[in-house]
Amino acid sequence: MARRQPEPSDTKTGPTGSFLPFRHRHLLGIAQLSPVEIVDLIDRAEAMIPVSRARKTLPGLAGKTQINLFFENSTRTQASFEIAGKRLGATVLNMAVRTSSLAKGETLVDTATTLNAMQPDAIVVRHGSSGAVELLSQKVECAVINAGDGSHEHPTQALLDALTIRRHFGRLNGLTVAICGDIANSRVARSNLVLLGAMQARTRVIAPKTLLPRGVEQMASEVFTDMRKGLKGADVVMMLRLQNERASGKLIPSVREYYRFYGLDAEKLAHANANALVMHPGPMNRGVEIDPAIADGPQSVITEQVEMGVAVRMAVLDALLGGEKE
Ligand code: CP
Repeated sequence: MARRQPEPSDTKTGPTGSFLPFRHRHLLGIAQLSPVEIVDLIDRAEAMIPVSRARKTLPGLAGKTQINLFFENSTRTQASFEIAGKRLGATVLNMAVRTSSLAKGETLVDTATTLNAMQPDAIVVRHGSSGAVELLSQKVECAVINAGDGSHEHPTQALLDALTIRRHFGRLNGLTVAICGDIANSRVARSNLVLLGAMQARTRVIAPKTLLPRGVEQMASEVFTDMRKGLKGADVVMMLRLQNERASGKLIPSVREYYRFYGLDAEKLAHANANALVMHPGPMNRGVEIDPAIADGPQSVITEQVEMGVAVRMAVLDALLGGEKE
């Protein structure tokens, strides 16, 4: 039977305001969320900003246990999930994957079963393979949050990007958002394209043909290989890292050539709207996809994105574990 979509009349009041009950057991991707649920999570995150800024601790997750299980490197996502869990009163355990039994050959499923036996309330997982987080979610009884799986989804990154954009423009609908760089390998691009499409934004992707995935026309409103044309009239310019760990470097003639055609510098940025926001999920390759002067310049909201990451992860943890779930 189809699950009833939440209605605004379903709202419940929590410590930071009135929000819809979150009807999902896990957060595996933006694709699982309805537009109403996306807006609700962004609203929840907005309400968490003053709590996070005041370095307050809410008691909402007191007595709950959150395990961060990162099979790929991370600075922003792992640290912000840890801070978010602690600001909500949870006990947070960061699994040291390199020194765990995984290093001795234990499988992902055995690791999941082992952690599940310790009765955690949530496991936050980053994995290099698309679909690995969903597989793990099928083996445990607790909530699972996707902190990035292969080139598939990075839902909390898209939510924090949306929150950052909405804080500047007051809306997402009708904005033109240009996502530029290694689209083929980017889970950030995928989650953002799904979210922005659901929010009625106009999405553009800009990349050399070798860094565009098959079927890209179905993912974005417009596709460009010429960066200057793609940036024309953009309200937001979202730059992506060239993912050398996924062999993207082999798909371009040279880093110098790539920077010349796809690196965001002042001359190319001038093609976007005046005061267009410059975003990057990080980590950045300065001088490869972005000029350091632009990354640190007045249009850049890259540091704000990091700050919004804590608020979004607090909101997601609260939605999944905070007692309002039906
Ligand atoms: N944006 C992002 O996922 O950054 P980290 O790899 O540092 O977590």
